[in-house]
Amino acid sequence: MRNISKYRFSSIIDLSNRVSNDQIHSQLKNYGYLLVKDKRIDWKANEEYFDLMEQYFEKRALQLEQSGKVDDCFPQYKYQIGLGYENIGKPNYDKESLKLMIDQPILIDRDPKWKYFWPYRYDGQYNPPQWVPKDFPNFERIMNKWQIQLLRTTELVLEILSLAFNEKQDFFYNNMNKATHLLSPIGCDLQKHQINTRFSGYHYDLNFITIHTKSRFPGLFVWLPNGKRVELRIPEQTVLLQPGKLFELMTGGVYKAGYHEAFLTEEAKRESIKQNKRWRVTSTLFAMLNDDTILQTMPYFKDLSNCNQAPISVKEQFQKELNKLSYV
Ligand SMILES: [Fe+2]
Repeated sequence: MRNISKYRFSSIIDLSNRVSNDQIHSQLKNYGYLLVKDKRIDWKANEEYFDLMEQYFEKRALQLEQSGKVDDCFPQYKYQIGLGYENIGKPNYDKESLKLMIDQPILIDRDPKWKYFWPYRYDGQYNPPQWVPKDFPNFERIMNKWQIQLLRTTELVLEILSLAFNEKQDFFYNNMNKATHLLSPIGCDLQKHQINTRFSGYHYDLNFITIHTKSRFPGLFVWLPNGKRVELRIPEQTVLLQPGKLFELMTGGVYKAGYHEAFLTEEAKRESIKQNKRWRVTSTLFAMLNDDTILQTMPYFKDLSNCNQAPISVKEQFQKELNKLSYV
């Protein structure tokens, strides 16, 4: 195996306690992500979600194998709702970032992962609308139930971040309350692929913050701000929050979008065979900012940042990034 740092993770912030601004800044500076505990989360909803999506990906993969076609896909919306199947997405990274990485990634052109995008809007104004697979009658209920849990935790963390960045408590909420947030299970077929297959190649996320809980199988690796790659094992009943590109732009590049990858480890392969489970599903929420939010360095970061990017709206930024991904 190539130059992998020993797995480790940062300290865990318990949201029931008072969280100091210093704690937030030191976590972001040293690790580039946050791990939090939120005792309000109903973890049964997380298990129900995993069960559902394992069955869903299994069924659709079989359908693709047998008929060469698959339901629930919307290329006209660039797969931004419903199902996206293997090899349609490209990992998104800046070539320049490679110069900063001590542990160099293995680069791939296409991601052999599957995904499903399930949108949520506070105002209910979906465009494009949610899509419910016809053969999964509990889909909507289970997805909504789990999505709400992750959003609630995210809202609380965003209040803490707003204060840590010298803004009013509702600053980030006011900049996300008209956005489309995506619950986005990623499905990786652990039995079809060889060990070391990159399911999601080296990339950063386009959105504001990505929220995860622990998957049933390992495989998530992140690059720390010092350029070292570590395997990130999210502890049980803990939530990971990792900055995306919009976060980087709001903080003037002081806190960068976290690079990460997912690949098939020996352990995941072994466990998959032992448990007779074919799919590694992630519990991922992409939190977005409102289309009309202007991405520019927040006052708190002005003196710390040497970024001179011109202000740009979220809508324009997202369009620019999505064009690069060139879905089939
Ligand atoms: Fe990602």
